[in-house]
Amino acid sequence: KTGRFTYDPGFTSTAACFSDITFIDGDKGELLYRGYPIDQLAKQSHFLEVCYLLLYGELPTAQQLEDFENRVTSHTMLHEQMVNFYRGFRRDAHPMAVVCGVVGAMSAFYHDSTDINDAWQREVATVRLIAKVPTICAWAYKYAIGQPFVYPRNDLDYASNFLHMCFAVPCEDYVVDPILSRAMDRIFTLHADHEQNASTSTVRLAGSSHANPFACIAAGVACLWGPAHGGANQACLEMLREIGTPDRIPEFIARAKDKNDPFRLMGFGHRVYKNFDPRAKVMKESADEVLGLLGVEDNPALQVAKELEKIALEDEYFISKKLYPNVDFYSGIILDAMGFPTSMFTPIFALARTVGWIAQWKEMIEDPVQKIGRPRQLYTGATARDYVEVEGR
Ligand code: SDX
Repeated sequence: KTGRFTYDPGFTSTAACFSDITFIDGDKGELLYRGYPIDQLAKQSHFLEVCYLLLYGELPTAQQLEDFENRVTSHTMLHEQMVNFYRGFRRDAHPMAVVCGVVGAMSAFYHDSTDINDAWQREVATVRLIAKVPTICAWAYKYAIGQPFVYPRNDLDYASNFLHMCFAVPCEDYVVDPILSRAMDRIFTLHADHEQNASTSTVRLAGSSHANPFACIAAGVACLWGPAHGGANQACLEMLREIGTPDRIPEFIARAKDKNDPFRLMGFGHRVYKNFDPRAKVMKESADEVLGLLGVEDNPALQVAKELEKIALEDEYFISKKLYPNVDFYSGIILDAMGFPTSMFTPIFALARTVGWIAQWKEMIEDPVQKIGRPRQLYTGATARDYVEVEGR
């Protein structure tokens, strides 16, 4: 439609939608948010500025950024009654079950004030989701470990606020380590959007019926949870720990190649990337930097991950299938070093992806020719036949 991107008519006949937000070239391993390369944004920008870019299409001026940050900061608290939802969950519930439930419950608190045909109310819902999902995720963690909820603070930046809500306790001061805050912010940026992945497509399809945005984002959370999608970051670190030492890698490589074995190398492969996932490159650099700064560079999982990557990238099967590390391969190692349990990895992915989901939802809702999604099928069932009474069966 514009610039160097042209549409092949054949492509549009199979495309789910047109979008201006995120571009992926799977063969080149290229990822652009509104035209800006992901590695530049991850290293030079910060998450709320990236949120502004994804939502409104341009990098903000200093004043625009300050206004946006103030709007997000002033909406980080939940309605106090929402605390009651947490009490209804079992303590050992997976945090994603809690996040999915509480995000959906936002419909009961904010939906009836959200006329999605009103641009300002769409804005309010957008800011509320970006602002409140970190609080929802942090409180899911606190509830799981039996600690009191820590309220958001307006004097902290977005990433520091999330870390403070997760790791502070009322009985002593907690100062967020800037190393962790920078790493957390970079992880948020790397996960912010990724064109029409499964969970984003879920949000678009739910939104196409004009369901309220909170219910649509809850649908995205549910889809992301799967180990083939956002759940892979948790599954990947658990796999690296199961491998344990580099000498056991060949055993797992063999299993990944065995078609009779359902085992897949978690954090490897991608439906679109047939080259390195550019996010994995930045994540790997960040893992080296963060673990080095924290003095845990000899972390066994990182050593196994690096050796596994090296072996897999030299293996004929992986080369032939064009399988490379994806965004989930190194992220869990960083999150583990920051102190998170593996069960919190996917909620953190959902927290970061909320801006991508809501940006794609807005783009769809604001498209004047938008219609309800209605995928078709290739029917392979029985041809028409008459009913048979039970005596005749
Ligand atoms: C995310 O879509 C997105 O953009 C998602 C995401 C995002 O930001 O939203 O990028 C986030 O979900 C990343 C992916 C996280 N999942 C994992 O790391 C789980 C492990 N990966 C695999 O399950 C798999 O790679 C998928 C699910 C990600 C993709 O699977 P596909 O679509 O089947 O991949 P493919 O068609 O390119 O596979 C080609 C071949 C197949 O074998 P054949 O049928 O040709 O014989 O490679 C095999 C696959 O079975 N294969 C693997 C493999 N991944 C693919 N074999 C072993 N280990 C793997 N990890």
